[in-house]
Amino acid sequence: MAKHLNTTEESMGQVVIIEDESESRKAMRLALAKKGYHVEDFNDGAAGIEHIRRHSGDIDLVITDLRMPGTDGLTVLRETKKANEEIGIILVTAFASVDSAVEAMKLGADDYLTKPIDLYEFRARVSKLITNTSLNREVAMLQSRLDKQYGFENIIGKSAVMERLFEKVRVVAGTNANVLLLGESGTGKELFANALHQHSQKKGQRFLPINCAAIPSEILESELFGHERGAFTGAVTRKIGKFELAGNGTIFLDEIGDMNLDLQAKLLRVLENREFTRVGGSDMIRIQSRFVFATNRNLMEEVREGRFREDLYYRINVVTLQIPPLWQRKEDIPLLVKHFLGRFNEDHGKSVKELDPAAMKALCAYAWPGNIRELRNVMEHLVIFCKGDRITREDFPEYLEQREDRPRSVTIPVGMTMGQLEQEAIRQMMAHCGNNKTRAAELLDISLRTLQRKVKEMEEQGETF
Ligand SMILES: Nc1ncnc2c1ncn2[C@@H]1O[C@H](COP(=O)(O)OP(=O)(O)OP(=O)(O)O)[C@@H](O)[C@H]1O
Ligand SMILES: [Mg+2]
Repeated sequence: MAKHLNTTEESMGQVVIIEDESESRKAMRLALAKKGYHVEDFNDGAAGIEHIRRHSGDIDLVITDLRMPGTDGLTVLRETKKANEEIGIILVTAFASVDSAVEAMKLGADDYLTKPIDLYEFRARVSKLITNTSLNREVAMLQSRLDKQYGFENIIGKSAVMERLFEKVRVVAGTNANVLLLGESGTGKELFANALHQHSQKKGQRFLPINCAAIPSEILESELFGHERGAFTGAVTRKIGKFELAGNGTIFLDEIGDMNLDLQAKLLRVLENREFTRVGGSDMIRIQSRFVFATNRNLMEEVREGRFREDLYYRINVVTLQIPPLWQRKEDIPLLVKHFLGRFNEDHGKSVKELDPAAMKALCAYAWPGNIRELRNVMEHLVIFCKGDRITREDFPEYLEQREDRPRSVTIPVGMTMGQLEQEAIRQMMAHCGNNKTRAAELLDISLRTLQRKVKEMEEQGETF
């Protein structure tokens, strides 16, 4: 836990005191130091501000006198807020300047004290404010961590389709309607499910993902519904299922297309009645959570084939977000490449700066059947194996070259013999690979020695490569 959340008085809250009257300054300092606070004190505003600017990340609280020669307390207040909004501020005023105190509160002071200072009161107020500041900081930190992981800034994309999708997510997230996410494997369905949760009112609640394809159906039922003790052989204790655990949060039923028909019927009932019982139980339990579903299957097709219940299909297909495959938004590729480059540099302690234009072009031309997951894996590979600070096509994993470059069709004139066909294949592949025998052999799926032998034979017949 961050040191700031440690809010007992023995913990070292950092306090700055700015006060021109030395008696009062010393009294305050001593009162706080005795309680274990780390105190820095200054007798003029300018020096205090200087210190605050330099240590703004560590300071919890600033206590400043309002009236001081030179830089006054209001300036200290403004400059402190500028340096770090989260630092708490207590203004100390003489009784005569209550108006300024009111103004100070308006400007963002958290508290004020009038002279002469009651030290007991003083310590209590300080303690309270430091606790607040620490909690605020902790919350802000957790928040930014969550936003970073799941916010839109982590779903990379600037293509028009993605922009539209982000907009839709913003709108839909606020409604708490159940959502179906459709898209090929690796397009980011799970990322979007998270984003929906993070942008909804359920943000602070649980997000529970369950992969329906990864869990055998007998187990899946009790994973979702929970079960009572003795509900079936092996049910030695009561188990609380995900529907119940999710509370007021979000349940993400991933690969819903893989759920068996029996369980589909039970799920339909839950969605319709918004209540359920544990397996082997009779207590009705209300559902409060939101459902997000995802599948990379064509659900309409599954319905036609009798593998997916039509009524369930219509039930979950109310708000549907279609995530486009990567090949339909190639303009996002350079952005994603840059994103993953940064990320994997960091992960693997590398400092690869860029891809040369030919390499980038090749990545943009590739079809990406595995979508962003595949791009991500390729980028990790490239960063790991890159020797300098620039990735070239030489660094590409072989399979990428193969899938991207393999000629799609060869014309075979009628009357061609098997031997001629083989030679034609070698001729084309050698041309394609710039006469690099190793690569040509790989792409032809024969050994290098075999290729060398065949090339030699062809050369003996007068061919040149
Ligand atoms: N737009 C994006 N920006 C950044 N990373 C992305 C994006 N889309 C997907 N990813 C990353 O690609 C990987 C695959 O994404 P995810 O698991 O969400 O795909 P999926 O659609 O759920 O795939 P599957 O159908 O196979 O489960 C993850 O590592 C994810 O972080
Ligand atoms: Mg997934």
